[in-house]
Amino acid sequence: MLAPVLQNWLHPHGEGALSSNVGAADLAFQRWFRFKEAYSPRIVMDAIRENGRKVQRCIDPTGGSGTTALVCSFLGIECDTVEVNPFMADLISAKTRIYDTASLAVDVAEVIAARPKSDSLARYAEAPATLIEPGENERWVFNLAVARQIGAFADAIELADPRNQPFLRVMLGSILRDVSNVVVNGKGRKYRKGWERRIVTAAQVVDRMRDACKAAYGDVVRYSSRLEGEAVVHLGDARELVADLPDADCAIFSPPYPNSFDYTDIYNLELWMLGYLRSAADNRGLRLATMHSHVQLNRPGRVPAGRSSTLEAASIGIERNRLSLWHRGIPEMLSSYFADMEGVISDLASVIRPGGLITVIVGGSSYAGVAVDAPTIIAELGRSMGLELVRHTNLRSMRLSAQQGGQFGLSEDAVVFRC
Ligand SMILES: C[S@@+](CC[C@H](N)C(=O)[O-])C[C@H]1O[C@@H](n2cnc3c(N)ncnc32)[C@H](O)[C@@H]1O
Repeated sequence: MLAPVLQNWLHPHGEGALSSNVGAADLAFQRWFRFKEAYSPRIVMDAIRENGRKVQRCIDPTGGSGTTALVCSFLGIECDTVEVNPFMADLISAKTRIYDTASLAVDVAEVIAARPKSDSLARYAEAPATLIEPGENERWVFNLAVARQIGAFADAIELADPRNQPFLRVMLGSILRDVSNVVVNGKGRKYRKGWERRIVTAAQVVDRMRDACKAAYGDVVRYSSRLEGEAVVHLGDARELVADLPDADCAIFSPPYPNSFDYTDIYNLELWMLGYLRSAADNRGLRLATMHSHVQLNRPGRVPAGRSSTLEAASIGIERNRLSLWHRGIPEMLSSYFADMEGVISDLASVIRPGGLITVIVGGSSYAGVAVDAPTIIAELGRSMGLELVRHTNLRSMRLSAQQGGQFGLSEDAVVFRC
């Protein structure tokens, strides 16, 4: 039986969709920022229940939009969430904060009232030239008026109460794509058709910010005081931080998938315009700290210490087809990716109390016609390090990329270990 507050929160999501995120993106809090890679709150609730005993503390090493943390906050479970991307870390903090609503209302009003000053663009001095008009090669992501208004909001947010700042940055982040000249997907960004004729005004930026704040403030008023606790958000690299987290009863997470999406690229507009990145060196540092799920950086390859016959077979198949890969770094990316997964799961096993569950939601990928069955590989690596595999079950089928034919073929699974 669900607690009434959870029942109320999950109501629009419906009863049937236990694992898919369909409908969950419109839930209070989850609708603040459309995070495509989020899983359903119900996955988290099921995983907690599957432990079969009281869960007091939970870990999510790759927090994303904070679904694990939010469900834990509703249930009064302490949650340590690690997230390398500072915008995502703010999103998790913003959703799980128990607000002083009067103070938040004052800060929202002050930020919305902020208008550009002569130095509103100063904060973007080292941002990539393509971001702001006049751009590069006669293309730019934000026109001057829009960029100046965004800069004015970002400056005003820095003057707000620090407890309200994550909320305000998330609101500003949530409108950026809409007021830009580009559309963004997993493969990066591309210019809108006819963007040259699309005029977005500063007044429209203000309207959108006001609307976003108003809708999210409504969620805060309705639910924030009913959260039973705030998540602890650790900004940084899970590969370094997890081993030092306090002991917990379980871990529930979905890592990046080995699909060559580069999160630093996908959230590039938010990262630069909100001030998390201020230089090319910051950008590189963030990429280096993200797991090996992309080929954007040339970094030393690693191999997992444990055995996985599925990984060995996939590696041989891919090596054979190396010439038809779209990037020569893919084999190294894959072996390093699984070394990362092995490292994080092993560190989790060192801090989860005996008998506690580690639930991993992960999907596979395909390169040069060879399937990389990430869930099975992770299951094998976990067993190789001595963990008991409780179950490995399919949640849904994912579509292959257009280059691979576009049909359904990859599975997204839950892999559950007992420590
Ligand atoms: C699939 S998403 C998690 C989605 C989450 N379960 C949800 O419901 O929103 C994976 C996340 O891992 C993060 N990530 C990538 N490398 C990381 C690292 N080294 N340490 C911590 N987080 C990392 C990414 O920034 C991304 O937000």
